[in-house]
Amino acid sequence: MSAQEFKNISHSDKIEMDDLDWNEAKSAGLSEDERFVLTYFSDIESQTIRYLGTLLKMTIASRPAVTAFLITWAYEEFHHGQALAKLLGQCGYPLAEDRVETINRRARLNEWLERFFGPLLSRVFSNQFPSVYLVFGAIQEMTTLRGYERLKEATQNPILKVLCERIAKQERRHFAWYFNNAKEQLELSSANRLLARKVVEFNWRPVGAGVKSNSEVDRLFSTLFPAEFGKELVREIDVKISTLPGFEGIRLMQDYFKACC
Ligand SMILES: [Fe+2]
Ligand SMILES: [Fe+2]
Repeated sequence: MSAQEFKNISHSDKIEMDDLDWNEAKSAGLSEDERFVLTYFSDIESQTIRYLGTLLKMTIASRPAVTAFLITWAYEEFHHGQALAKLLGQCGYPLAEDRVETINRRARLNEWLERFFGPLLSRVFSNQFPSVYLVFGAIQEMTTLRGYERLKEATQNPILKVLCERIAKQERRHFAWYFNNAKEQLELSSANRLLARKVVEFNWRPVGAGVKSNSEVDRLFSTLFPAEFGKELVREIDVKISTLPGFEGIRLMQDYFKACC
């Protein structure tokens, strides 16, 4: 295990919350839009653990550093969901206890990549498929990171600000891991680059689109990234993903939002 790989894992932990004053959170309250965004984020974060089994089947997951990262990643994401649910509860908007299971059932069939074609294709293209997952991961982590950064800037609730800052710190590390590992895998072969680009272009959807309705996805993005913020987000993500080998000139976000919004 390299020093960098060890560093990625040794920094892992669940979000610190013991020092937070929940009365302060409660008296500041949450706007209706914040309640919507926090519920959305909590639902998606809590679902991440479902992907762990699929990701651990990747050929590169046989490397101890990759296995260790994925396990700590899923652990951190799960606790992001728990932290947001706790904030909602403390502010008077508790989520139902069986919320995670309910959302799990709502996972729609268009998650075929993970549920059916993913395992099938990953057997057929066992060497190429890690690239696909890693690129997806990089895009979703970057979008999530920018979401928490925007929420932190926009909220008047001081405890939500602290939580967003702490979560964003971990999201930044997640993004770096996915992006760097995607780059490494894509550099290995033209087959990796070709398959990853085709699958990502064909099947990429914004964070949460598998379990949320189109109107909920639109509301999330228009709430967090209104007007110029939205344009900047889609531009920034497309530019960053374009720097990956085989993804030159890709316009995923720009084309998606042009088509739908
Ligand atoms: Fe997260
Ligand atoms: Fe993350």
